[in-house]
Amino acid sequence: MKQFISAHDVSDIDALVDLALAFKQDPWKRETLGQRKRIGCLFLNPSMRTRLSTQVAARQLGMDCIIFNVGAEGWALEFEDEAIMSGNTVEHIRDAAPVMAMYFDILAIRTFPGLKNRDDDYSELYISQFIRFAGIPVVSLESATLHPLQSLTDIITIRECIREDASLANRKPKIVLTWAPHVKPLPQCVANSTAQWVNAWGGAEFVITHPEDYELDEQFTRGATIMHDQDEALKDADFVYVKNWSTYQDYGKIYCNDPGWMLTADKLKTTRQARVMHCLPVRRNVELSDEILDSPSSIVTRQASNRVWAAQAVLSEILDELARK
Ligand code: CP
Repeated sequence: MKQFISAHDVSDIDALVDLALAFKQDPWKRETLGQRKRIGCLFLNPSMRTRLSTQVAARQLGMDCIIFNVGAEGWALEFEDEAIMSGNTVEHIRDAAPVMAMYFDILAIRTFPGLKNRDDDYSELYISQFIRFAGIPVVSLESATLHPLQSLTDIITIRECIREDASLANRKPKIVLTWAPHVKPLPQCVANSTAQWVNAWGGAEFVITHPEDYELDEQFTRGATIMHDQDEALKDADFVYVKNWSTYQDYGKIYCNDPGWMLTADKLKTTRQARVMHCLPVRRNVELSDEILDSPSSIVTRQASNRVWAAQAVLSEILDELARK
């Protein structure tokens, strides 16, 4: 693996999931693979799970992991080509990225969309400029439009649950991605990424449900069934993935914020005792009710714990590629 930005960087998702599950069985099985290698994790935005799980994963591969909170502690970076830097930005990515590439073997980056201009966000300018000017493998720790480590984790978690459930031995599980209310306009990253990965994986019947006006970009959802009736969508679900996102067409807005879209135990009654997923952090009793989060239906902690194995599988694949050079 040369980089990890989206599902398109993975030739065999099931094989990568198998590798992650093997690391879960034996975290230290390749503890010398990353010896004398360094990963720089750059955060332009806050993080808890992504930051800590990547550090733990790197450590278990013997790598040195250096965290740099660029957004809070670094020089303000300019990403536009030919910018006249007379404003607030201090250093151009053309100058900063090659320097970082001298310090590290792998660069991992978290960016975030501005949610002001859709074309800007969907051009993935930040992460593409890092890839362009660093010239070393780049791992997305969440970008403007996608969150691949989260989605790999989610498929790992679903595969684990399938393995433990005899009723899922001979049929594809039904996964429902449902929109949920929120107090702030959030990016579409996790929803886009879930759609991209579940479609690419192909191991499930996949339904997306959201209020009208919350359509996602078709490049990610193509292949999924889209429904505006949440109750109908939830019928017979094995997994319900709850996530808010802001509007894509009239970009970055909150239209409907109907609290009736919050998942409750009552709504789960028509499912096949569905496991409830969320990437976290979650706004309790806005996005998801206490009664679900604190019940056996919720697998959100297991999901978050699997972030380590997803990161470890990806880093080990990139380290193997570096070793072949
Ligand atoms: N799910 C997720 O990416 O969590 P953090 O923002 O805390 O990293």
